[in-house]
Amino acid sequence: MRLTPEQIERFDRDGYLFFPGLFTPQETRTLTEAVPALYARREAYNVREKGSDAVRTNFAAHLYSEPFAKLARHPRMVQPVQDLFGERLYMHQFKINGKMAHEGDVWQWHQDYGTWKNDDLMPTERAMNVAIFLDDVNPFNGPLMFIRGSHKKGVLDAKHDLETTSYPLWTVDNALIGQLVERGGGQGTFDADGRYVPGGIISPNGPAGSMILFHSCLVHASTSNMSPWNRVSVYLSLCAVGNHIRRFKRPEYIAHRDFAPIDCLPDDCLLTDYPVDLPWKDGMPASALVTSTEPIDKLEVAA
Ligand code: SIN
Ligand code: MN
Repeated sequence: MRLTPEQIERFDRDGYLFFPGLFTPQETRTLTEAVPALYARREAYNVREKGSDAVRTNFAAHLYSEPFAKLARHPRMVQPVQDLFGERLYMHQFKINGKMAHEGDVWQWHQDYGTWKNDDLMPTERAMNVAIFLDDVNPFNGPLMFIRGSHKKGVLDAKHDLETTSYPLWTVDNALIGQLVERGGGQGTFDADGRYVPGGIISPNGPAGSMILFHSCLVHASTSNMSPWNRVSVYLSLCAVGNHIRRFKRPEYIAHRDFAPIDCLPDDCLLTDYPVDLPWKDGMPASALVTSTEPIDKLEVAA
């Protein structure tokens, strides 16, 4: 899939691009059906909601689950990002976020690049976030929200929140959020038929199989899911190979250490048998839990 000049311009202006229904229901089903078995595992890579057994986020499924290993090499996702960066990509992070019916908790306002810079020493913002909906996303099941154009502000001041939810996050304070929303278009309005026209906060809603590409400095959040519908989505981060992280402060299942460029599979890979490498199929290696606060000096980066 290639981006048009108009899409490239829109990405630069708004900080995201939305592709409703990019993956067919049949393709998406191959992924959704694999999720319950992954979530049932009692492993460090399954982070559960505070005070609940519901999975908040599952990490690194592309290393031990065949359908997700294929998704991680899908040309409909990798190609446009590679075109935007003009460089080959490696997988920096791979998550399947639950946001389960009645249980899914909030994700506070944050930028992802702030964490990658502070924790992982990723040199620049040349990494793209991708969201792929495995369930329909509507206004009630905790959809992702963006502050339009907030990526233009670069890396913002953030505070390390270790308390609000079960997952630590570098969050942006309310005063700054207010300013960014105002700058992005304010509160929005209503048209002549009473329909809401968004201003500075927008929220792409769409069927399962939809994809969003969003800038690593775009400020985003989501509310809790009080609806009776799950909102399972894959979030992955594709980083330009030359921009790989320089520190292994977080476990390898959260911030990956294999900087080899992704080789795409054919476009029909989700519905066809293609051999994929599953290095953690028989369990996560102990080395994946080893962390260090020291920067890495010399790394062999696969070209
Ligand atoms: C994230 O920002 O990493 C997750 C947001 C969400 O699942 O709504
Ligand atoms: Mn995020």
